Amino acid sequence: MNAGKGKPVLLSGIQPTGRLTIANYIGALKQWKALQATHDCFFVLVDFHALTVPQDRAEFQRRCLEFAALYTACGLDPEKHTVFIQSHVPQHAQLLWILNCMTHMGELFRMTQYKEKAGRSAAPVNVGLFDYPVLMAADILLYGTDLVPVGDDQKQHLEFTREIARRFNHRYGEIFTIPQPYMPDMGARIMGLQDPSGKMSKTDENQKNYIALLDAPDIVRDKIKQAVTDPGKTIRYDPAKPGISNLMTIHAALTDLSIESIQADYSGKGYAAFKKDLAEAVIEFLAPIQKRYRAAYSDRDALMSRLKAGALKARKRSSIVLDKVYDALGLVPGGPVSKTRRERMDG
Ligand code: TYM
Repeated sequence: MNAGKGKPVLLSGIQPTGRLTIANYIGALKQWKALQATHDCFFVLVDFHALTVPQDRAEFQRRCLEFAALYTACGLDPEKHTVFIQSHVPQHAQLLWILNCMTHMGELFRMTQYKEKAGRSAAPVNVGLFDYPVLMAADILLYGTDLVPVGDDQKQHLEFTREIARRFNHRYGEIFTIPQPYMPDMGARIMGLQDPSGKMSKTDENQKNYIALLDAPDIVRDKIKQAVTDPGKTIRYDPAKPGISNLMTIHAALTDLSIESIQADYSGKGYAAFKKDLAEAVIEFLAPIQKRYRAAYSDRDALMSRLKAGALKARKRSSIVLDKVYDALGLVPGGPVSKTRRERMDG
């Protein structure tokens, strides 16, 4: 599938909602950063996806730029890879429509995230929320993506993407690459600090349930001190002790220490000592990210010009696949189609 493409293609995205957390870092950004060396990467800020809930105009714009600056601050390289905003690349919405026409309603009704979000919502559920996985499939399939690093909560959306790609290929020929999910062995599902039975979420109303990448040191100390732990005292990784196991996972993921060595280091010590050291380790991890973030966010011209360059590259690359899709479906060329397609038509 990847013949002639050079390095395998990686694509992943984050919704600019709430506040970017250490869970987004551990489950996604950390993997993205590591895979840059071996992949041709597309890192997208999925602002269309964020519109499935109403956004305050000014705050939404500010947050999108905050997240874009955080992408760079977390070590993504916009010079070597393609970092862009979804709404800057109209091809995403174009492919969405085509994939909509191949998706069964029942497939979307079955999506766990849809069921959860629709179930929780007091307001009428919008079509965008229902259609969300199809837009995600379009994001991925437009770039001939081989690998999609995501946290555990996106697994079902990835399975759907693979299914829709196979369905299209079966009907129209081998056009889409079938993407593989990529999940970290440890940290694919970081849990909440106050409620370790649910995942840490960047849109949680209870700010104590997550650590944001931009949290100040005192806030981090406070949140970790107040994190819910399990009965007992020993620092031991055990699925029956989700609170302490989650904190150990965070420690291991942010310091690159193994769970075993953390366990050995804290043998005979209690939760308080562990939490105190964990807070300092998180603060130490966040400090350089926050410093780079401030520089990237305040240099607005540089940030905007990188995003513009990223969108240009993304438009170019996504047109190749979209063009093949249009051609396969028998859409009459004449719109913004590539030269190759016109030539095929003329010939
Ligand atoms: P989003 O914005 O909810 O989350 C961004 C990334 O962070 C991961 N993540 C977690 N990882 C570990 N533990 C957690 N508690 C945790 N919470 C979130 C997510 O799995 C994700 O990788 N639908 C996607 C965005 C998207 C996308 C795409 C992703 C749109 N198009 C194409 C990949 C490819 C979402 O809402 O992610």
